[in-house]
Amino acid sequence: MTEISTRAARQAAVAATVDRVRRIERERGVTPAALQSIRAELLALAAQEHLFPATEFPPPPPRERGANRYLMQIDADDRFALYLNALNPGNATPPHDHTTWAVVVAVEGRELNRLYERTDDGSEPDRCELRVREEIVVEPGRGICLMPDDIHSIHTAGDRPTRHLHMYGLALERLDDRHAFDPHTGEVTRYNRAFLKPAQGGKG
Ligand SMILES: [Fe+2]
Repeated sequence: MTEISTRAARQAAVAATVDRVRRIERERGVTPAALQSIRAELLALAAQEHLFPATEFPPPPPRERGANRYLMQIDADDRFALYLNALNPGNATPPHDHTTWAVVVAVEGRELNRLYERTDDGSEPDRCELRVREEIVVEPGRGICLMPDDIHSIHTAGDRPTRHLHMYGLALERLDDRHAFDPHTGEVTRYNRAFLKPAQGGKG
């Protein structure tokens, strides 16, 4: 396919997928089961690897940290935001929440996700106790669902860049009450919403 026909096919596939995601949320709300259905839709989209070529969605230059984040589609009210994140190996985030639902699936590459549970009662706003509840490798065919208050960290290992689709109930730029959790010191801080910058707009 030419680049133009690939773009048209991608936009159509993304739009159809997000239509179904919107309907799932509208009919079933934000529940773990509904997010699993949303994940199935996104896995089917990500399986069409030819729509998301590395030539069009490259990671930052080799050995550079951070992500290239490409906006695929977003509603006029900033809901149902779909991004493609391209990262080099060796990236990691601290444990953090999102305050909206999130589903992540892989087009290419592996990313270890650690899911945490709080073992304290949450009564102190700037203190926490965490322990790892589960480890999930997000790779082609496997994704992860996160409820708004779920806590995870991500770790890109291996020697290949990753291209992953991240869908959020609300645009990342609108999430201004997120938290990072230090599992060693127990400190709770504001999560830097610019963490995954530099954002790259609308190549999508
Ligand atoms: Fe996250």
